[in-house]
Amino acid sequence: MERTPLIAGNWKMHHGISATGKFLSELEMRISRDAGAKKALEGDFIEMAIFPPFTSLWRALEGKRYLPWLKVGAQNVHWAPEGAFTGEVSANMLREAGCDYVIIGHSERRQLFGETDEQVRRKLDAAVSAGLLAVLCVGETLQEREAGETMAVVERQLMKALVGLPPDEVGRSVCIAYEPVWAIGTGRNATPGEAQEVCQAIRRFVAERFGDEAAMVQRILYGGSVKTDNAAGLLSEPDVDGALVGGASLQADSFAQILAAAL
Ligand code: 13P
Repeated sequence: MERTPLIAGNWKMHHGISATGKFLSELEMRISRDAGAKKALEGDFIEMAIFPPFTSLWRALEGKRYLPWLKVGAQNVHWAPEGAFTGEVSANMLREAGCDYVIIGHSERRQLFGETDEQVRRKLDAAVSAGLLAVLCVGETLQEREAGETMAVVERQLMKALVGLPPDEVGRSVCIAYEPVWAIGTGRNATPGEAQEVCQAIRRFVAERFGDEAAMVQRILYGGSVKTDNAAGLLSEPDVDGALVGGASLQADSFAQILAAAL
């Protein structure tokens, strides 16, 4: 079965409402000039998603009026449906707002905000139950890679996050993003070979735990210093089904170039 490639832009804490509006107009202009990209997006042969900060979500969702193929997601979610959790937003609230996707377990949340594997699991459950598609981030630190622990770390993160989900939900409702921590925001991307090696091992892991069917439809993204000049190489690997892009997703032009590289 074919997996629809996903080019996702994690804006992190960048682009307020006005910058989001500017990005959308530039994206519309850029895509309208690229017949191949337009056709692929309109025909659902490829997906483009942006993940703006919470306050910019409504503006991005408004952009769907003239960019109907654009997917929009949040960068975080709380596991409870509602309650006394100051500063948090629930999965149903994101769904009601019109979000398609949500990023869960990004390494910045794990490292800077102390998010645990258990919290990641609860968030993933809540997101999937609410009908959101989840982008589950996993990846090792440089120290862990150098100690030869890459797959042990990635498998632990996957196992703890996915443990409660029915096998058919794993492939269908979760995109796994392999983001080595040492490659995020450093300009030092994994080589296509390194990305493929881990993405292939992730697919094998999904097959062993959740069955061949789940593994076949499982989308696996690579993230970490994806740029216009390295995207084609990374995306041509057989087990890399897309990219989770940080810095290079902030400009419509470079983001669209990365999409073009995937085609
Ligand atoms: P950079 O593309 O800026 O390295 O960020 C990657 C990332 O963390 C995406 O989630």
